Amino acid sequence: MQFIDLAAQQRRIRGAIETNLKKVLDHGQYILGPEIKELEEKLAAFVGMPHAVSVASGTDALLMPLMVETVGPDDAIFTSAFTFIATAEVVALTGATPVFVDIDPETFNLDPVKLEKSITQTLAGNKLKPRGIIPVDLFGQPADYAAIQTIADKYRLFVLEDAAQSFGASQNGRKAGALANVAGTSFFPAKPLGCYGDGGMIFTDNKDMYEKLLSIRVHGQGVDKYTNVRIGINGRMDSLQAAVLLAKLEIFPEEIGLRQEVAACYDRLLAGTVKTPVIREGNVSAWAQYSVLHPRRDEIIKNLRENGIPTAIYYPIPLHLQKAFAGLGYRKGDFPVSEKIAGEIFSLPMHPYLTTQQQENICRIMVENER
Ligand SMILES: Cc1ncc(COP(=O)(O)O)c(C=O)c1O
Repeated sequence: MQFIDLAAQQRRIRGAIETNLKKVLDHGQYILGPEIKELEEKLAAFVGMPHAVSVASGTDALLMPLMVETVGPDDAIFTSAFTFIATAEVVALTGATPVFVDIDPETFNLDPVKLEKSITQTLAGNKLKPRGIIPVDLFGQPADYAAIQTIADKYRLFVLEDAAQSFGASQNGRKAGALANVAGTSFFPAKPLGCYGDGGMIFTDNKDMYEKLLSIRVHGQGVDKYTNVRIGINGRMDSLQAAVLLAKLEIFPEEIGLRQEVAACYDRLLAGTVKTPVIREGNVSAWAQYSVLHPRRDEIIKNLRENGIPTAIYYPIPLHLQKAFAGLGYRKGDFPVSEKIAGEIFSLPMHPYLTTQQQENICRIMVENER
C-alpha cells in the first residue's frame, strides 16, 4: 500500500498529461511558456484572487512576498512552532527573526490568543519590530483568519498565508490562497495538487505586490532581464510543470470531494481508537494529511508497518527545538501544546484513490491493537 498513491491518479489522466507535455516539447518555450500564464489565470480564478504568480517551489512562494515587504534584521515575523521548516526558514533567509507561537490543541494551527500575547511581549522587549504573521493551514485546514486578521490590523502587521498544504480547502466559502492579502502554496508532488517536481504559486489582491513579485521572480528585473532594479532570485516555475498541473487541475475539484469521503470513512472507523482530526465549523480541509493522536503512537505505527501499512510523523520536532533555530534561544517547555502534539501525532495513508476496503483493513488493524 502507498502512503500517497500518485500512480493511481496518473493512470486516470496519463493521456492528458502526455498531450500537455508534448505541446511543450513542440513549442520549446521551457521557461515562461504559454502554459505558465494559462495556469496562473486558471488558478487565480479558482481561488478567487486577482493575481497569481507561479514560482519554483512553495518555499519561494513564501520567501518572495517577504522580499517584497523588505523584511530584514530587527523585524519579527510571528509563526507557528508546529509546521514544516520552510515556513520559518524563509524568515531567517531574509535576516528577520521568526518568533514562534504555540498552537491550538485541536486544529494544530496558530493560537490567536497566544499570538497576540507574543506580539505584545515582543513590543515590550523593544528589540524586534513586529512586521508580519505567517499562519499555516496545517494538514489542509485553514487557520483562524478572522481572529488573526483582527490582530494583524490592530498592530499593523501583514498576513502571509502559508497555504502549502491547503490548496483546494476553504473557509466560510473562501478558498485557501485567498484568506489573506497574500498567500503561498506548494505543488510538491505529494501535495493535494502536485506537479512532477517542485513548484509553487503566490496569490495576492495587491497590484503593487504582484508587479514586484514578477520582478523578483526574474532576478529583480526592471524593463527587461538585464535591467535590475532590486535584488531578486531565479524563482520561475518550469513550463513542463505547469503543463502537468493543467492536466491535473481538470480532476482536482472531484479529487477534493473524494478526499472528504476518505476522511469521513476514517473518522467513522477510528472513533474511540485514536483522536481523529477536528475540523472547525466553516472550514473544508484539503486533507493533505489525515493526522491522528495517540499517546502510544510508536506501538501503533510498528504494528501497522508489520502489516505493510505506511505511516508518517508530521512533525516529530517542533521548530523551536530544531538545531537550525538553536540560536534563537528557545527551550523545551516553551510551547507545551506543540511539544505534546509532536509526541503523539502520526498520519495515515491519504489520497483520493484509497478504497473503502483498504481503509477498513487499516482501521481493523488499529482497532484490534487497542483491544
Ligand atoms: C507548511 C509548508 N510550508 C512550506 C512548504 C514548502 O513547500 P516546497 O516543498 O514546495 O518548497 C511546505 C511543503 O513541503 C509545507 O508543508
